Amino acid sequence: MRIALSTGGGDAPGLNAVIRAATFAARRRGWDVVGIRDGFNGLLFPDQYPEGGVVRLDASNVRGIGHLGGTMLGSTSRGNPCHYPVRAADGEVTYVDRSVELVQRFRDEGIDALISIGGDGSLAIAQRLFEEGMRVIGVPKTIDNDLDRTLVTFGFDTAVEIATESIDRLFTTAASHSRIFVVEVMGRNAGWIALYSGVASGAHVILIPEIPFTYASVARAIERREAGGAHYTIVVVAEGAAPKDGSQSVVEHAVDHAERLGGIGHTVAEELTHLTGKEARTVVLGHLVRGGTPMAADRLLGSRFGAAAVRALDEGQNGVMVALNEPNVEYVSLADAVGRLRTVPMDCDTLLAGRELGTSFGDD
Ligand code: F6P
Repeated sequence: MRIALSTGGGDAPGLNAVIRAATFAARRRGWDVVGIRDGFNGLLFPDQYPEGGVVRLDASNVRGIGHLGGTMLGSTSRGNPCHYPVRAADGEVTYVDRSVELVQRFRDEGIDALISIGGDGSLAIAQRLFEEGMRVIGVPKTIDNDLDRTLVTFGFDTAVEIATESIDRLFTTAASHSRIFVVEVMGRNAGWIALYSGVASGAHVILIPEIPFTYASVARAIERREAGGAHYTIVVVAEGAAPKDGSQSVVEHAVDHAERLGGIGHTVAEELTHLTGKEARTVVLGHLVRGGTPMAADRLLGSRFGAAAVRALDEGQNGVMVALNEPNVEYVSLADAVGRLRTVPMDCDTLLAGRELGTSFGDD
């Protein structure tokens, strides 16, 4: 048995714990393990990797990596092999599906099965490879925690911890200067990171994509605080949040011109200064919440998922994703898991708790 590991999409704290656990669990069974560099690029573009696009994994290179952030295999959020951009001489871009070619490359390398570690995009690629005859197990990863078929994804707890700690630090400087601080956090179209870190830190306003807000409502919350003698306000805004009568804020990538979410924090600060006359500053936490050392919870979940993915293969599973359903790790169909994003429901207990504590969500 020869298995391959691949990490795709944005990195998340805990990826190395998955790689380490899956490698040890597979080696204990006497299987060969390889890692593919940068998502699937190591297989699709082997010439770009003089040291090899496919690397052998064993104790010598995965030992002691579980506590490290990032991914030792590298990752990419660009160049989906199932929707691969090809630029013609006149600049026109067309898209081709390279999944059949990719499955052939796995066969050329003598790889029997793939453990694909990724978020919704990478797991959709894994499902496509499964449909093309590849033996595949998915492992859910994302700091955004927006995958519906697992209780939680690894990376989320660390992202919430770093965001909370950062917001804590802004409280003291905001109070000292009687300022508004707007903290923009990642999370794509789900408000989990903003909601959890906002409630944990005691932020006064939390704006999430699931609840369209109005600037007037946020300004009223600030004015209520001022009237009560609190001359500073902490606003946590998810990158995907949008005002009721507006759209999400995006910025264009300088190289490939792809759009990504970002910029709402600055707009919120400007609007609030305009409405309240108070000084407002913006802090964009960005990639800080997904870099660096994973918390114990993410190392543990990564280790459990890595071991469970190998166990799944040993049990003859195929086309499934490992998923947390405490106290167990279960298998759910990959087809079922992809394309089902979990956003914050309006009856979410943490949201209700925030409301009961007097937090403004910009909608009253
Ligand atoms: O999905 C993880 C995530 O960090 C999102 O929260 C964010 O929108 C996106 O990735 C950023 O991606 P990139 O690092 O490719 O800009």
